[in-house]
Amino acid sequence: MKINKVIGYQVLDSRGRPTVAAAISLTDGSVHTARVPSGASTGKHEAKELRDTGSKFAESFYGGLSVAQAVANINEKIAPKLVEEQIDLNLVDAQLIELDPSADHSSLGANATLAVSLAASLATAHSQNKSLARYFSPDGPLQIPMPMVNILSGGAHANRTMDIQDILVVPVGAKTFTQALSWIVAIREMAAKLGKEDGKVTNLIADEGGLAISFTSIEKACEFVVTAIEKVGLSVGSQVSLALDIAATQFYDGNNYNLSTMGKSYNRSEYLQFIKSLVSNQPIISIEDPFAEDDWQSWQEFSSQMPAKLQLLGDDLLTTNLDRLNRAIAEKSANAILIKPNQNGLVSATLNVLKQARANNFNTVVSARSGESEDSWLADLATGWSAGQIKVGSTHGSERNAKWNRLLEFEATENTKFLNPFN
Ligand code: PGA
Ligand code: ZN
Repeated sequence: MKINKVIGYQVLDSRGRPTVAAAISLTDGSVHTARVPSGASTGKHEAKELRDTGSKFAESFYGGLSVAQAVANINEKIAPKLVEEQIDLNLVDAQLIELDPSADHSSLGANATLAVSLAASLATAHSQNKSLARYFSPDGPLQIPMPMVNILSGGAHANRTMDIQDILVVPVGAKTFTQALSWIVAIREMAAKLGKEDGKVTNLIADEGGLAISFTSIEKACEFVVTAIEKVGLSVGSQVSLALDIAATQFYDGNNYNLSTMGKSYNRSEYLQFIKSLVSNQPIISIEDPFAEDDWQSWQEFSSQMPAKLQLLGDDLLTTNLDRLNRAIAEKSANAILIKPNQNGLVSATLNVLKQARANNFNTVVSARSGESEDSWLADLATGWSAGQIKVGSTHGSERNAKWNRLLEFEATENTKFLNPFN
């Protein structure tokens, strides 16, 4: 089957900011569309999304965040190269690399390349009469990932109500994804209720659908979530554990980690002690970005001293980038990687990062961004790639629930296995 048309256009993400969509039409008349997500606490080493700020495309509306240049790159540079070619994800990605050999996709824009690469993966799966998940995982049960779900939000997603970005829960004792999600919704609703009773702000919903509640310490925020878990009748540790996304780059000034809502500023060694006591005092099974994106030394030190079972997850540190992952493997800086397709810019290269991580015994967590769309391809990728874990935000907002609902659909309609990397 061949590519008939490739069209790029601008749409809005869940924050109301412009993002890139690409539609690939095939010779059988079918159309395959994908929309690209976008981060707010973006890592410095991510592939480069093109925004129109300062360019000839800049519009007065959208505050310079429009993506007309990336869209023009799809329509004027990518489309002519792909039309009349066979539809095949790997061929499309190879053509995109030929057009823009830069490592960070800065010439075409990673938002342009990823939109086309995602649409190409959907179209390729269709050409083989498969779902995207089944295209990557044709045989045996589909491997549904363990969800890691946002209950409380702070940092760049919630006007810095807390210094750290997220307190999440992982339903490690759930037997099915359906059960896991029902537990999480109950915990989130209980947390909202407790927040109201305490007179804390609960009407403010953060970018990823979590509750934006102020706390004077990270411990207090953890204890609040623990109480919510217990009040719904679940046991902490054996059924539901905590995970943190610290997003520490956001409060590191190059010398000190400044936890301003706690009124604390720590130098590197004080901060390392602080993180060590946090993970030993709270029921935390996974900690993401506890140190800044280029503070490799702290990552390595912590990794050599932390509890053996803790998942140390690199997001801004690794940015779904093969070179940075290889450094982390060599230096033992982490034992898990967040996989965000738009940090990388191509679907096939994102999969290669995931495979390299798995080959080196890293856990893999496929992740959405804080700016998302109604698309559900992320759930197909996490499942088809047998990633083991998925992180989408909370259970509020259809851009989040589109992914959860896709996983519920798999469990209801397919032969599936619910993965638990924490067993
Ligand atoms: P972002 O946040 O999409 O704003 O980068 C998500 C995360 O840090 O995991
Ligand atoms: Zn993160």
